[in-house]
Amino acid sequence: MAGFREYKIGTRIFALAFGGSMCITLLLPSINIAAVSSTDIALAKSLSAGHETGFNLDDPFLQGKNKPYVVALKADPKSGQPLAEPLTVYVYQAGTTFPPGILHPRILGAGIEELSVQQGHIGEAKKDAGAVFTVSKGEYQGKAHSFIDNLTASKGWSPADVLRAAKDEDISQAGKGKTMFVREGCWWCHTLLPEETQDWQVFGAPPMLGDFNGESPTAFGSDRKAPDLMHVGSRNSSKEWMMMHFFNPRLVQPHSIMPRFDYLWGEKDADGKAINFAQWRTEYDEYREGKRVTAPDVPSYAKDSEIRSLIDFMLSLK
Ligand code: HEC
Repeated sequence: MAGFREYKIGTRIFALAFGGSMCITLLLPSINIAAVSSTDIALAKSLSAGHETGFNLDDPFLQGKNKPYVVALKADPKSGQPLAEPLTVYVYQAGTTFPPGILHPRILGAGIEELSVQQGHIGEAKKDAGAVFTVSKGEYQGKAHSFIDNLTASKGWSPADVLRAAKDEDISQAGKGKTMFVREGCWWCHTLLPEETQDWQVFGAPPMLGDFNGESPTAFGSDRKAPDLMHVGSRNSSKEWMMMHFFNPRLVQPHSIMPRFDYLWGEKDADGKAINFAQWRTEYDEYREGKRVTAPDVPSYAKDSEIRSLIDFMLSLK
């Protein structure tokens, strides 16, 4: 009865596979992911992205509303005294929803939670008035931790003070840019999750679990048709390259399959002049046909344009 023996083997393999999958189903929910401590990367990421990115009532049409600014502060916004080193602060103007870690400090992880509440006074931050945060270093029960520090409570710096003191080039709109990344479907082709198997020299080390605390959504991407972008700002920090590549990827990568995102420039350039897309196209076609030596220049972008925030987001991915 050789056939019967094979049935028995099959039954055992099935039992093993089924038992294994039941273990995963029953055990996974009992792992407390909130107990994983936020890394510095997670703190920076969630403070710069704000509450959440995607379909929510704060920004139903994904226009990048309700987002904080990241400011490299070079002087004390109250006294005007220069700071020894630029300080990265996250500016939540009045009405901007705070990120999950501020609303639910428990998810920051042990140590970080206590320090952020007791020393950082994050509980005192009020949405109606807005607040300015930074990441500070502290010690809890003999262990060093980073924590979120509410500078509006400790130093009296208001969002308006900080924005008045900062120059536009010191302000990053990476939070709004992440909304553009989600809305424009960059994740159809790009991942934000380098793997162990990829070339670390080029794509950077894979992230750790604690890098994602409080991030929503993570924008990992579905599958990879294009380079991973997790650390793209480390290997390419050229704003000019980004401008050319987004306006028309084939200006810098002749065989690129990436679509152009020239419409993110909006209607006007940095000087408030209307952008003439049709003329640009004509000149570009002439260049491709060899009737011009150089491609036409890519228009400068307005400081509140969507492309500005997307490039700020790309350059923030260090
Ligand atoms: C149809 C697939 C596709 C989509 C959609 C797409 N890309 Fe790409 N992207 C590519 C490919 C392929 C490359 C590599 C060739 C090149 O540089 O153009 C690339 C390259 C890049 C690079 C340079 C990467 C590096 O390693 O230097 C950046 C930055 C980038 N894309 C950003 C974006 C952003 C932001 C969006 C959404 C607004 C987007 N891409 C949408 C396919 C895509």
